Amino acid sequence: MSHLLRALALTLLLAFALTARAAPPAAPRPIPDKELGLSRTSVFEVPSPPAWKAEEAAPGDRPVPPRPFKEAPPVIPHAVADFLPITATQNLCVDCHAIEGPKKKGEPTPVPASHYVDLRHAPEKKGEKVAGARWVCISCHVTRSNAPPAVGSTFRP
Ligand code: HEC
Ligand code: HEC
Repeated sequence: MSHLLRALALTLLLAFALTARAAPPAAPRPIPDKELGLSRTSVFEVPSPPAWKAEEAAPGDRPVPPRPFKEAPPVIPHAVADFLPITATQNLCVDCHAIEGPKKKGEPTPVPASHYVDLRHAPEKKGEKVAGARWVCISCHVTRSNAPPAVGSTFRP
């Protein structure tokens, strides 16, 4: 008899366990179209981006900003419009910055030794000229503007 009861109890327990499975997850909340993308307007609107101005200071006018961390490529503290484009045969950045160190106050910061090393073909020697991979300065050195950042940064060096 007690065997029968135990078997019954076990069956009940199993039946309960099978029916009491976790409820299916609630359907995800739809994302309102104003929360998609960075402009925070409806995706059906065509907002004009806020006006912004590129840095206008001449070289040496403004102090160089502190580097966010050691080894960070410094931000360009002056206007660059007059110095672009950089082409295979013309690079005004190099004309001013490829000078002998040590740095003198108010003068262009000399291009560091790292920029003369061709890491691909001759990684152990400092070349005569700025290496090809460093030629397009603005691919690493950021220009400045008064545009507010579209996305905040939580980066801390
Ligand atoms: C007419 C000369 C001249 C030209 C052309 C020029 N610069 Fe400069 N640059 C300067 C001077 C002067 C400074 C300021 C140095 C200072 O105040 O200590 C400077 C500062 C900088 C700095 C900051 C260096 C630091 O120590 O933080 C960077 C980066 C820079 N320039 C990159 C560029 C790039 C890239 C170009 C080309 C798009 C360029 N520069 C074109 C003269 C020039
Ligand atoms: C591949 C990325 C890259 C390119 C391209 C590049 N740089 Fe740099 N630059 C850096 C980094 C990273 C540093 C900081 C670390 C170092 O000194 O090597 C730096 C540092 C500098 C400094 C500061 C040197 C100092 O003593 O504080 C100057 C000036 C500079 N670069 C000028 C230039 C110029 C001019 C060009 C174009 C001819 C150029 N860079 C191209 C990455 C780059």
